[in-house]
Amino acid sequence: MAGLIPQNFIDDLISRSDIVEVINARVPLKRKGKEFTACCPFHNEKTPSFTVSENKQFFYCFGCHAKGNVIGFLMNYEHLSYVDAIETLAADQHLDVPHENNPAADHKRQEKQPLYDILQTAAELYQQQLKTSDRAINYLKQRGLSGDIAKRFNIGYAPQGWDFLVSNIGNTSNRLEALQKTGLIVIKDNNKTYDRFRDRIIFPISDQRGRIIGFGGRILDQGEPKYLNSPETTVFHKGFELYGLYESKQALRNIERIIVVEGYMDVVALAQHGIDYAVASLGTATTTEQIQKTFRTTHEIIFCYDGDNAGKKAAWRALENTLPVIRDGMVAKFLFLPEKEDPDTMVRKEGKQAFEQRIQQASTLSDFLFNNLSAQSDISSNEGKAQLASKANALIQKMHNSLYKDLLIENLSQLVGLSQQQLESKISTNTQKPSAKAQPVTAVRGQQILLNKTRIAIALLLQNPALAGQHKVPESFVRASNKGLPLLYQLQQSIESNTDISAAALLERFRNTEHEKTLSILSMLNTPETENTDNIFEVYRAIIERLNNEQRELYFNEKLSNNESLSPEEWREYLKRPNQDPENNI
Ligand code: CTP
Ligand code: MN
Repeated sequence: MAGLIPQNFIDDLISRSDIVEVINARVPLKRKGKEFTACCPFHNEKTPSFTVSENKQFFYCFGCHAKGNVIGFLMNYEHLSYVDAIETLAADQHLDVPHENNPAADHKRQEKQPLYDILQTAAELYQQQLKTSDRAINYLKQRGLSGDIAKRFNIGYAPQGWDFLVSNIGNTSNRLEALQKTGLIVIKDNNKTYDRFRDRIIFPISDQRGRIIGFGGRILDQGEPKYLNSPETTVFHKGFELYGLYESKQALRNIERIIVVEGYMDVVALAQHGIDYAVASLGTATTTEQIQKTFRTTHEIIFCYDGDNAGKKAAWRALENTLPVIRDGMVAKFLFLPEKEDPDTMVRKEGKQAFEQRIQQASTLSDFLFNNLSAQSDISSNEGKAQLASKANALIQKMHNSLYKDLLIENLSQLVGLSQQQLESKISTNTQKPSAKAQPVTAVRGQQILLNKTRIAIALLLQNPALAGQHKVPESFVRASNKGLPLLYQLQQSIESNTDISAAALLERFRNTEHEKTLSILSMLNTPETENTDNIFEVYRAIIERLNNEQRELYFNEKLSNNESLSPEEWREYLKRPNQDPENNI
């Protein structure tokens, strides 16, 4: 496992980079007053609603509400994982990303490089061979592939014979070792070497950064096995990779949806017909990791399988693996093809338009889930309903709390005729209790958010981390039942651990936490309090003190109403406390 990237490095990296510069290098920006604008790269538009704030070091789109800091931009725009985004940003600044407490990780990286190099060399050799083999060229032609597509996917041909690679790459001990570690050759006891791929069409598999990590090889005629893949190696982990993902990112700037299919030929044939957004799960059941990776690239996945039993089974596995990953705003659908068809044969038969029509009509996850479960139980009987409810419960429990989860519970409730309360007593969910008093709602750049003192304080501290050094958030906030107060204290602590932290870096620390969404909205909050730069400190201190007074008041009330005694200091504080004026809410 790679070591953690030290938090200070990330803070520092974000503070040193300028979001305007980073975005401008990818999406040309125009200055407009205090901010910069462009047509949004994340949705189609004719008039610019994408804005970048130089002061705040955040971007925001009024049209599609995409928002975030420089890391978030890179993740979305370049479809990168978190770590890859950090590496990209660091590379821009000619910095190496350190990995904490883990010299082993650095060592491992150095060890991997020769493997990547040898895989790249082999891929090039296979591609050259394709040009010289009429047999291989004819095979691809007969399967409807053009030279362009073969080139785009770096398709090659491994010739017959046992020592093609060694005789072309050389047999120095370093090369032999790298060839063996990538699984490209097998070395037998007598030191004889054998090529793994012989007389096969070669499909190179790339990782997210376009490095070749393994190959799939298809036999040209009849024979077994039809496909042969690279073994698991230090650079190739089948369950984590998706064939064609890198190529779709190259072909499309903005990937609205991805279709997950089973085979190499399916991906390539779809691309041949202009459907550039297909990936293959490399012949295994689609894993949670693969789904997660795909959702980082797009918000909609269509799983495509044969309509036969094996296809249904594979789809069900995909559904089970999707539930723990899916969040609000993400869509998963299921497309079943007629029996004996796969995407390759289908698209060749009926073309792009008809195939995309099928995609349009794919079943939603909830339809597939409930239809499939209903078919397994007799839901006209109570026993059947109970069986369905318990099976569905078990699946729904795997999900993150989300509106989508709530909706599935609602669907289930209608289906089995149990009230949501009855179901919910079995399922933990985040149904929010109605708040005791109505709170003002404000739209932060198009997103509705309840505004209260706590949230304003969070926004102030997040946007101006230096406030933490001027007025401390009381430690007692950690124990408050109002969820925002512990968060406020957490912000205070994050800032204390690095007093120079920038607002954008501070936000970064909360990525993938339950607070990420609220914080990213609050980072853009513009209220009289946040915009009043002249006495922002006074405003902040006043709010913290009011919050503290309220907390103390709650504390005293609780103690007194439980007939517990106060200490002498507490009595003094209690008697001296300021008047509580409920009207005077900030
Ligand atoms: N597969 C594999 N090993 C096998 C068979 C299949 O790894 N022995 C994987 C390959 O990724 C293959 C996918 O499973 O692309 C689907 O296999 P299959 O349906 O048998 O083949 P097709 O993709 O339809 O292959 P083709 O159209 O070339 O016959
Ligand atoms: Mn096929």
